[in-house]
Amino acid sequence: MPEAVLEVNDAVVEFHVPGGVIRAVDGVSFQLNVGETLAIVGESGCGKTTLAKAILGLEPLKSGSIVLRGEPVSQNLKGLAERVGMVWQDPYASLDPRWRIKRAIEEPLRIHHRKNVDERLEELTNEVGLDSSLHNRFPHQLSGGQRQRVAIARALALRPPIVLCDEPTAALDLSIRAQILNLLKEIQAKHQVSFLYISHDLTTVRFIADRTIVMYLGRIVEAGETKQLFANPRHPYTRALIDSVPTLEKIGVMPKVLPGEIPDPRLRITGCRFRSRCSNRIEKCVTVDPPPTSEDSRVYFCHNPAAKRA
Ligand SMILES: Nc1ncnc2c1ncn2[C@@H]1O[C@H](COP(=O)(O)OP(=O)(O)O)[C@@H](O)[C@H]1O
Ligand SMILES: [Mg+2]
Repeated sequence: MPEAVLEVNDAVVEFHVPGGVIRAVDGVSFQLNVGETLAIVGESGCGKTTLAKAILGLEPLKSGSIVLRGEPVSQNLKGLAERVGMVWQDPYASLDPRWRIKRAIEEPLRIHHRKNVDERLEELTNEVGLDSSLHNRFPHQLSGGQRQRVAIARALALRPPIVLCDEPTAALDLSIRAQILNLLKEIQAKHQVSFLYISHDLTTVRFIADRTIVMYLGRIVEAGETKQLFANPRHPYTRALIDSVPTLEKIGVMPKVLPGEIPDPRLRITGCRFRSRCSNRIEKCVTVDPPPTSEDSRVYFCHNPAAKRA
């Protein structure tokens, strides 16, 4: 059995909003293993960031549990930064504009009274491929890619076993995106860190993730090994997402766009939540919430899955 660093068990997060309640995370369970990259994908609004915040203890769970290295998150917020590093989408927003780069990278070390701060600063700077001559600059004096490298150095500062990345390359140019993904891979190979990689961009997910979880309206609809999932998506939603990615072979062909809108998240939907947009819909989907079906390395929640690809 692979060793889990993070276990999410039937987690539920709700928001009370005018006109009702949004169950942004609705009974999500998975585990993140030592040294692996697990991606969470889905369209905007499916609950990815809320899940990330719950893992960081920033959103309380209504029910369920999140266990980091054997310890429930809600009970130990203080030591959390030592256990989870965080890289957000926009490094410009996550770095203090008034702080020089040196201070941004050093700060977690100082807060946690770590020794040999200067040494560690050099080490981290090298590790993320930055030059120490940049230490005295301010964030606005760096490029987008350099800023994201600073954010990664900060996230790694305390050597957490888990790094949570929420759309880490979404704000970057394509060429820079690849560099950042390669950097994450290098760091993982070196330190056996586990990445929880949140993204709506399937191209980067396919490149970086060992396993992938697909979410729709707060729920997992399919999960499995990335290779298998991309080669043979079984949930109609996964298939639609994958088919809508423009690939080299498909350039010149209009990508299929997923039809319809995501339903109002305040609605309590009976049966399958994806049914309003699903071309495989059958009668049962209206009334019965699909149970999990296991197949090879994956699980999906669907009454009438897409046909297997050869
Ligand atoms: N603080 C909040 N208050 C009310 N609703 C929220 C809040 N944060 C997120 N939501 C709602 O929860 C759902 C999931 O949002 P989010 O986790 O940001 O999705 P994603 O990161 O996948 O785009 C959305 O319907 C969103 O509008
Ligand atoms: Mg988000």
